[in-house]
Amino acid sequence: MKIGTPLSPVATRVMLLGSGELGKEVIIALQRLGVEVIAVDRYADAPGHQVAHRAHVIDMTDPDALRALIAQEQPHLIVPEIEALNTALLAEIEAAGQTRVIPTVKAVQLTMNREGIRRLAAEELQLPTSPYAFAHSQQELQAAIEGGIGYPCFIKPTMSSSGKGQSRITGPEQIAAAWEYAATAGRVNQGVVIVEGQIAFDYEITLLTVRALNAQGEIETSFCAPIGHLQQQGDYIESWQPQPMQPVALQRAQEIARKVTDSLGGLGLFGVELFVKGDEVWFSEVSPRPHDTGMVTMGSQRFSEFDLHARAILGLPVNVALSKPGASAVIYGGLDSQQLVFSGIEQALAVPESDIRLFGKPESFLRRRMGVALATGDDVEQARERARLAASLVKTADGL
Ligand SMILES: Nc1ncnc2c1ncn2[C@@H]1O[C@H](COP(=O)(O)OP(=O)(O)OP(=O)(O)O)[C@@H](O)[C@H]1O
Ligand SMILES: [Mg+2]
Repeated sequence: MKIGTPLSPVATRVMLLGSGELGKEVIIALQRLGVEVIAVDRYADAPGHQVAHRAHVIDMTDPDALRALIAQEQPHLIVPEIEALNTALLAEIEAAGQTRVIPTVKAVQLTMNREGIRRLAAEELQLPTSPYAFAHSQQELQAAIEGGIGYPCFIKPTMSSSGKGQSRITGPEQIAAAWEYAATAGRVNQGVVIVEGQIAFDYEITLLTVRALNAQGEIETSFCAPIGHLQQQGDYIESWQPQPMQPVALQRAQEIARKVTDSLGGLGLFGVELFVKGDEVWFSEVSPRPHDTGMVTMGSQRFSEFDLHARAILGLPVNVALSKPGASAVIYGGLDSQQLVFSGIEQALAVPESDIRLFGKPESFLRRRMGVALATGDDVEQARERARLAASLVKTADGL
């Protein structure tokens, strides 16, 4: 593996497609290794734009715009950070041979749509998942629920993230609203929704799984300690590491994560979402990239999920060791503003073993994630209390 001088003709160039808070950290990790980074997003001054060598604003679903930008920048690696991409164009670029898509075009294609990844996991790999069906109309949705999925169940657009368009319903009178919400709030109205039976889990985890080259140059799979998390309205509000698990459940979780990531292939870090009840484990979904709940690793691991992703995609070895129990707690905007001001930071950082990240997003909404508090502790409970406290001490207001 060789890394050239950034901004010279021999530079190692990486293009991030999507430059939010997770992309920003990947960019910083890459720059620490001397990589030249190009950040792309759909809006100006995205978090990653603010730390990259060059920043571009384009519509990444537009094949012509994407093709032109790739031709101009000539990246060696393309690192998708979002799902709303023109994947057919990515396949065309990779086939041309100059550029590698992380982790693979197949992984990006399958995970951008819930149908692709669910059919792979449940039907091809035969992994345990919630019962599910796809419905193309409200009538089909009702028939699927009454035909066996039952209540409570979750209805989700096939293309969405962070809980957008998702509802949990408990009876037939809620079907029409759930169909309508999924159809209108999805990223792209596909005219199809997934309905999933509820898994009554004890807890849910993200298992960060890394495919990286070992000293022999072979791909080896490593697992970070499991991350527990709390979701509200389909969006994560708190995460902690390690989540205590029965050895059998952990082993099953790792087996599932290994099968899914082996099938998706390539090099990089994946966030495998799993539900756990006793010794039973169900696959939920997977991100072929760092995961929001994995921000906790910026405090709890020697190398964060972003460092691990950067190393893995460059073909470098990884070390997934936990250094100390840790937790993260989300800081929301709390109001709509284009000149948000944070205060109380000195109080937050006075909490023992705490840290914060403010993402620098140019526009705040009531429920937009604008930052995160991190903390470590002697155990997960102490770390969680500290992270929650630090997050609660950060105040937001409109600056004008
Ligand atoms: N079948 C299910 N059984 C039980 N809980 C579920 C089920 N589906 C979703 N949930 C709950 O809703 C949360 C969000 O669901 P999911 O991960 O599918 O949505 P998402 O929009 O992709 O969210 P994100 O992008 O934040 O991961 C899950 O983490 C879980 O807490
Ligand atoms: Mg999820």
